Amino acid sequence: MTGNHEPVADWATDFDHTDLKWAADPFPIWDDLRESCPVAHSERYGGVWLPTRHEDVAAIAYDTEHFSSSGIIVSDEPQFMGPPVGMAPPITSDPPFHAEARRLILQALGPKAVAELEPITRAWCEELLDRVSGQPVIDAAADYAENIPGRIVCHILGFPLEDADLLKEYIQLELVDMPFYERPMPRVMMFEYLRDQVMDHVANPRDDLTSHLLASTHSGEPLELTHVGGTMALLIIAGIDTTWSSIGAALWHLAQHPDDRDRLIKEPDLMPIALEELLRAYAPVTMARKVVSEVEIGGCPMKPGDWVLLPFPSANRDPEHFDRADEVVIDRAENRHATFGLGIHRCAGSNLARMEMRVALETWLDRYPTFTLDDPGGVRWAGGQVRGPRALALRVA
Ligand code: HEM
Repeated sequence: MTGNHEPVADWATDFDHTDLKWAADPFPIWDDLRESCPVAHSERYGGVWLPTRHEDVAAIAYDTEHFSSSGIIVSDEPQFMGPPVGMAPPITSDPPFHAEARRLILQALGPKAVAELEPITRAWCEELLDRVSGQPVIDAAADYAENIPGRIVCHILGFPLEDADLLKEYIQLELVDMPFYERPMPRVMMFEYLRDQVMDHVANPRDDLTSHLLASTHSGEPLELTHVGGTMALLIIAGIDTTWSSIGAALWHLAQHPDDRDRLIKEPDLMPIALEELLRAYAPVTMARKVVSEVEIGGCPMKPGDWVLLPFPSANRDPEHFDRADEVVIDRAENRHATFGLGIHRCAGSNLARMEMRVALETWLDRYPTFTLDDPGGVRWAGGQVRGPRALALRVA
């Protein structure tokens, strides 16, 4: 079980985060490393570090002086747009460029805008379940979770809603362990699609984020078209498989924990608290940084050009930071998890992600109060930097 790379010989000195073993069950790997080698290193990808303790992950996430966001996906892919802007502002941007680039998208993702999106999200979740109604087994990843966030991103950016399936095809972060020039390049198609959308919005401005970006300025100048396209791409890459992974992982958990499921049905007010715990325990996103100047983390000397992974999911399972870190405590009162990141790049879409997840779970539980894993061995998890179930057969009758 590896993927497109050599098998991992030793997780402390030769790890590969795209390994299928990591995808299937990374928790024992991180637990062992936290004990034996809290900042692991691998020569793969040109040299990459893996801090596993909350303390070290936080120190790096807050330190924008030594660590740049110009590389957030560990890969041998050439960086066509260097710091401080990067390919997909604001997530790939460093200070001082970052703050203004982030401000441009906050309103479209803020509480008021998200509340307005709730009815269409609920109607869409209902429609997805109508499509598979009567089936005794539903693939909760492929037929449900996977299809929810794309349509909402289309709505925000002002794309035809039926293009959501296309957007899903464009995100393939799992293939980073293939040599760059041998990889399928769905992102080239994505940028062609985005160019057409930009041209359409230039000709027909309307009330959506794409038109807002086209009319915006940064440092007093109209946004470069590469900036507009990069931010549109960011919403697609950051907003779709992340959210679908969290929805899928939550359903995977509830399929195996009838007590938690029953409590959610009997105590609907518990939902917001339970959501935070499911987000903590099954955090999907590991980000990366590039080291820009020499620095030591956890006693390890990091050099310019090195990659550093930021495994927020491992930080969330650190027993130094959370009581019963490896358990899902569905009514956990105190829960300062790192699922949405830490520091200046903290997720700008967290309101939206929480709403989509809550509505998706409420709609599912309303329709199917009891369900189980149909084939536990057949559940397939995507690994790499966004981890979540991609095949999840649930028996509902
Ligand atoms: C459960 C779902 C989600 C998770 C777990 C998640 C996680 C994250 C994380 C960990 C970061 C920090 C990146 C870093 O430190 O480099 C981030 C940033 C970001 N996310 Fe999310 N995200 C989710 C959903 C969304 C959604 C739905 C959107 C919008 C459609 C979104 C938009 C963004 C943006 C724009 C940033 C960059 C913020 C900045 O650089 O200032 N995310 N997300």
